[in-house]
Amino acid sequence: MNICVVGTGYVGLVTGTCLAEIGHRVICLDNDEEKIRVLHAGGMPIFEPHLEELVQGNRQKGRLSFTSDFSRANDGSEAVFICVGTPPLENGEADLSAVEKVTREVACRTKAYKLVIEKSTVPVQTGEHIFRTLRMYCRGEGGDFDVASNPEFLREGSAVEDFFHPERIVVGVENPRAENLLREIYRPILERNFRCPVHASCPPGPSPHFLVTDIKSAELIKHASNSFLATKISFINSIADLCTKVGADVEMVARGMGLDPRIGKDFLKAGLGFGGFCFPKDLQAFVRIAEKNGYDFGLLKEVEKINKRRIEVAVEKIRTELWVLQGKTVGILGLAFKPHTDDIRFSPALELIRRLKKEGCRVRAFDPKAQERASKELPDVEYAANAAQVAEGSEALVLATEWPEFRELDWEKIREVMVHPFILDGRNFLEAGKLQTLGFRYEAMGRRSG
Ligand code: UDX
Repeated sequence: MNICVVGTGYVGLVTGTCLAEIGHRVICLDNDEEKIRVLHAGGMPIFEPHLEELVQGNRQKGRLSFTSDFSRANDGSEAVFICVGTPPLENGEADLSAVEKVTREVACRTKAYKLVIEKSTVPVQTGEHIFRTLRMYCRGEGGDFDVASNPEFLREGSAVEDFFHPERIVVGVENPRAENLLREIYRPILERNFRCPVHASCPPGPSPHFLVTDIKSAELIKHASNSFLATKISFINSIADLCTKVGADVEMVARGMGLDPRIGKDFLKAGLGFGGFCFPKDLQAFVRIAEKNGYDFGLLKEVEKINKRRIEVAVEKIRTELWVLQGKTVGILGLAFKPHTDDIRFSPALELIRRLKKEGCRVRAFDPKAQERASKELPDVEYAANAAQVAEGSEALVLATEWPEFRELDWEKIREVMVHPFILDGRNFLEAGKLQTLGFRYEAMGRRSG
């Protein structure tokens, strides 16, 4: 099928590339000419495992191309995926101006039938606005449109894998024509009939659920899912604080809870809290959507508050150890909001750095992938070439992102170069016993360390 994907951010680039990989002819469109230039030159605007190989491979096969020319991308496509950004406005609501603009452009240029698919995370009822806008701006013999909602559940760092092996594909449609087209688009995934680019010998497994709903329910599924996952994280973080107070171990509590299949073991990892471009903004947007529709979602407001407090909890742990923070050197290991990505948006690590700077600390930091982005956002931090350099002369070290390589560091050397060997494991990730044997004072987030 000929498909146009508008927006080459994390979602658009992964979606477009993976759709090409399963056999479609895809044109990715972005009004950011610099991004398109980078992609044309064989570069990548983001780091995401496996993505670069797939982009290059599909370009060579002629199935994937990039343009900033709307007509070129739109004209021959039967389906358009809208994957543009919906960043938060001051009041927490999603800014839908990019979605509206793309919709207008599609409306003006389309002459034959087209399925317009919203993939960007949007408030419930956006589908109705898209449909009205398509009708309002279409010209001449145009006007034969269907709108669908097809929320993405891709996690950064494993987005390619998530695309090929989803648990569910949700499509919100209002008629069988749109449903059938979406079924056709995803057929190779549903029939598990593709060469998996992530695992050489991909195990045969059950095909994903193809859940067909109305558009509004599909839109709500996305916000409800992310909010629920965020709630799980804030819940376990509250338990972590209680564990610290009574001397229990949050890892054990989470394990015991997670063995109940009704609860499930995932998203029960306590630490510095959630970040990234999805959970914090989706949570805020969902609270606003509820409010606008006359429902006070107090539960989610509390989830957000608990998450914000994580930074305070971490700072207090460092203060308890170092007494006065002013003038102390603190090393930060990890800047990305989670491992395997270079994304620093709403990263707890950056929030912690800002807070420590405010206290008068000198901050050094290192991240294997996110350093460049972080240095643009926080230029007054000393960026080190490796973890040992971060530790040198510091009075505290905070593990803020659980990059696997941080577990394998030469911790003996690190202890030797620190002024005071205190480590705050902000992700309950390191081997506490080993570090204590080496002479570290180890503190974690609700983990029993003694
Ligand atoms: C999330 C959703 O998982 C995905 O389905 C959606 O499409 C986009 O938003 P992502 O933001 O990439 O994906 O990351 P995710 O792995 O969900 O983690 C989000 C944040 O929560 C990270 O900062 C992570 O460190 C934190 N987290 C996650 C925890 O603190 N504890 C956990 O148990 C899980």
